[in-house]
Amino acid sequence: MTAALPTPVHLDCDTGIDDALAIGWLVATPGVELVGVSTVSGNLDAAGGARNTLDLLALLGRPQVPVAVGAHDFLDHPYAGGAPEVHGVNGIGEVRLPRAAAEPVGHDGAHAIVEAARAHAGRLHLLAIGPFTNLALALELEPELPRLVQRLTVMGGAAMAPGNVSAVAEANVANDPLAAHRVLTAGFDATMIGLDVTMRHVFEEEHRRALLAVGTPATTALAQMLEFYYRFYAQRFGRPCAVLHDPLAAAAATGDVELASAPRVPVVVDHTDGPGRGQTIADLRGVYAGFPDEAAGGVRVALEVPGDFAGALLQRLSTL
Ligand code: BDR
Ligand code: CA
Repeated sequence: MTAALPTPVHLDCDTGIDDALAIGWLVATPGVELVGVSTVSGNLDAAGGARNTLDLLALLGRPQVPVAVGAHDFLDHPYAGGAPEVHGVNGIGEVRLPRAAAEPVGHDGAHAIVEAARAHAGRLHLLAIGPFTNLALALELEPELPRLVQRLTVMGGAAMAPGNVSAVAEANVANDPLAAHRVLTAGFDATMIGLDVTMRHVFEEEHRRALLAVGTPATTALAQMLEFYYRFYAQRFGRPCAVLHDPLAAAAATGDVELASAPRVPVVVDHTDGPGRGQTIADLRGVYAGFPDEAAGGVRVALEVPGDFAGALLQRLSTL
């Protein structure tokens, strides 16, 4: 009997404090091979995100993972600054990681995605936890991408929950609504991990302290980043803590959380200039009378992820 091959995962991200936690999750998860990373502007610019990613991967003992700098600007508008109030000016809560020797690869994020999909045809899991620009550009390069990859998991959108950057829009989708629309309607076997579920999984100060107490360079750095992130969420929750957007999407991609309710439904994105810009419009009319079973097409929209994910995250990151 031959051992099962590890699942190849390509990550597209805007590293980012919760992106850093997601990278930690992927590296710490047995049976997963992180085959490449592409960065996109979002929490900070794409080049800065790549630097953070390279430095973090070196700290995690994965200096060989190729990192490509992806789109600086979005499909129909320029990048206009990130989210320093949430993630810090350097994207990782002003934590200074040792500078890794590795540099980004010579090709861009969209090419990196297409190359990974071709190299692992039929097996690649794509995980997108930043704006969807690189994926939309990859679709232009390779229209067969949805059939080349095994599946796509995205952190983004909100089906029934309110938005986090406007009344209706979640940040990753809001940054590039046109790209999100193209990706979510492209025919991927896609799962959307949006604010409906990510806002309900919270890392508390006791989790952060336990992570800090592990005392390795990687766990210490992640715990220090979280200290910064907590200040932003303290304004909402009234205590130092943080919701777990990107790591929850990573755990969905690696099959480690139960999607107790995740109907597959059509999702389109408002990319007009009206007040609904960035809204992920998921056709959830089935909640009134049950959803059609596995309707062809559409996106699997996570509505309920039960269990203690914060505890699971602490446990897994503690192995780093
Ligand atoms: C998403 O936006 C970014 O700020 C986070 O990294 C996450 O991917 C949450 O809306
Ligand atoms: Ca992110």
